[in-house]
Amino acid sequence: MSEIDALLQENRKFAPSREFRREALVSDDSLYKSAAADPEAFWEKQAGELQWFEKWKSVCDWKAPHVKWFEGGTLNASVNCLDRHVTGARRNKAALIWEGEPGDRRTLTYWDLYVETQKFANALTKLGVKRGDRVAIYMPMIPETAIAMLACARIGAIHSVVFGGFSPESLRDRIEDAKAKVLITADGGYRRGTIVPLKRNADKALEGCPSIEHVVVVQRRPAAGGDEAFAEMRAGRDHWWHDVIRNEPAKCEPAKMKAEDVLYILYTSGTTGKPKGIVHTTGGYLTGAAATTKLVFDLKEDDVFWCTADVGWVTGHSYLVYGPLANGATCVMYEGAPDWPEKDRFWSICERYGVTILYTAPTAIRAFMKWGDQWPAKHDLSQLRLLGSVGEPINPEAWIWYQQKIGGGRCPIVDTWWQTETGAIVISPLPGVTETKPGSATMPLPGFSAALLDANAKEIKVGGGLLALTRPWPSIARTIWGDDARYVQTYFSKWPNRPDLYFPGDGAKRDEDGYYWILGRVDDVLNVAGHRIGTMEVESALVEHPAVAEAAVVGKSHELKGQALAAFVTLREGFQHSSDLRDELRDFVGEKIGAIAKPDDILFSADLPKTRSGKIMRRLLRDIAEGRAMGDTSTLADPNVVAALKEQYEGKE
Ligand code: PRX
Repeated sequence: MSEIDALLQENRKFAPSREFRREALVSDDSLYKSAAADPEAFWEKQAGELQWFEKWKSVCDWKAPHVKWFEGGTLNASVNCLDRHVTGARRNKAALIWEGEPGDRRTLTYWDLYVETQKFANALTKLGVKRGDRVAIYMPMIPETAIAMLACARIGAIHSVVFGGFSPESLRDRIEDAKAKVLITADGGYRRGTIVPLKRNADKALEGCPSIEHVVVVQRRPAAGGDEAFAEMRAGRDHWWHDVIRNEPAKCEPAKMKAEDVLYILYTSGTTGKPKGIVHTTGGYLTGAAATTKLVFDLKEDDVFWCTADVGWVTGHSYLVYGPLANGATCVMYEGAPDWPEKDRFWSICERYGVTILYTAPTAIRAFMKWGDQWPAKHDLSQLRLLGSVGEPINPEAWIWYQQKIGGGRCPIVDTWWQTETGAIVISPLPGVTETKPGSATMPLPGFSAALLDANAKEIKVGGGLLALTRPWPSIARTIWGDDARYVQTYFSKWPNRPDLYFPGDGAKRDEDGYYWILGRVDDVLNVAGHRIGTMEVESALVEHPAVAEAAVVGKSHELKGQALAAFVTLREGFQHSSDLRDELRDFVGEKIGAIAKPDDILFSADLPKTRSGKIMRRLLRDIAEGRAMGDTSTLADPNVVAALKEQYEGKE
């Protein structure tokens, strides 16, 4: 509750400055009004900013819970991101300014990206990839990652990008679920001065993936020295990227995709152990990503836009690749860690390339704050004109620090709420219009509509409740790959009498001015350093260890990461708890899922608190992990269990 209380006391307001407003693309509220009066006309206008082969016949076909947008229209996402820019003044404009962690640099113009994408698209076709086939991408943050995505889009293949920090097993699950035919990876990527051995991980993953026919490997490491330790190439299956593109022509006819054809699948955590393959379409998704990039970031021709998210997450898809490129923007892409080699890496990048718009996550901002003001102070950040935040609630303190120390008090902040499933930003200020309040994502953007509801779908005008999105928008996920029933169950079944309402899984507060204050997930999904992790996933991983009988995982607040994981574990007969076993279990989870899912705390216990019907009382475990007074324990089968656990947790033995 303390968090809610703190937010309730937050009443500072920041209106856009006169200077910002004067130059802003949108500087009054007429767009909100016209979009509210006719949302379909608003979206139709946004879709019209894209290039279509054939125009749509209907704008929105909504048969709850399924929706189709722009049916009858055909387009290609890569044409929208590339071809239409190379015929005009943007031909030689920088599309991607890339910096590797070791300091290597490359700039690709729109023309370069156009050529490279088509060569690689031809190479994929040679490897047998056809329209509708799935291609898995497991890459570091290098230009080839964006090229691979756009090349898939060019030929109508569906990409499934898997974050490079995921373990071989997580990669395998995702490849298997999507039945991907080709995997694109790299020998490695740099992270904090060491090499993440992506190809070696991929080889492990592929031990159980019969669907993969070919693997394309980018040589990220310098070729000198012939170090093959990072990439053992299997003849017939594995091919170097530079070999497959060598003789390919730089021309590849784009596939004419229907608006509702799938552009990509992106896996995200849910409340079961199995991740969900979120499905995004071509026409609606691109419309949402392109329109919100322009409006939320007030994007202009000479901006240098840096979205720091990894391409493995939806933010990288919508605001590093599709949104900015569809707008012909110059994007910065950085491979590595923010504190390598020093804690001013982000600020040196901002200075070096004259970044004008920076979009990053609260967890990073809190780390910068902790590292101290001296790091940004060493650099000239005067080119910055707009700052963005995404992924988790930003605490007012971090918001103010960001505004003062990074934005020099001059840049508006857009706190953008959205999710993998929404494809695009939903709740956010328009920087030239909306008065911001630190910690609030403010209000739904034009074209979107939200409400705060109680369990019976009754609207809460002021107060706390469940967030709902009340009207479909073009970039909403259309289904979960291979499991439409789960889609309907997860997103459209929260209020049985209202099967038209989308439930994002978040709780929020609405204040007197109609501003939304997102409080976080209300389901068994955690947000650790801005990454979604299902507690069930971690529990399933833990119980696979031979020593573990039962495991319960809950979230606890964390100063930097927002939330961290605490695991309560009971051991099988014959196993003894020890700090070695604790380390082993943490590493085990790291191997099963990826380092981001390693619990901060593991507590061994003889028993877990359960109701008489055998359900683990996670609420009580959360109280223990947070060090709070415990709620009602009267429904427990054995109330002693929880008292013993609390004592143990506090002693952290
Ligand atoms: O809980 C919300 C939180 O992140 C969840 C979505 O996670 P994911 O699909 O991984 O996408 C992250 C990037 C869009 C949401 O359900 N979240 C995201 N942005 C915010 C946020 N919580 C508060 N404020 C935000 N700006």
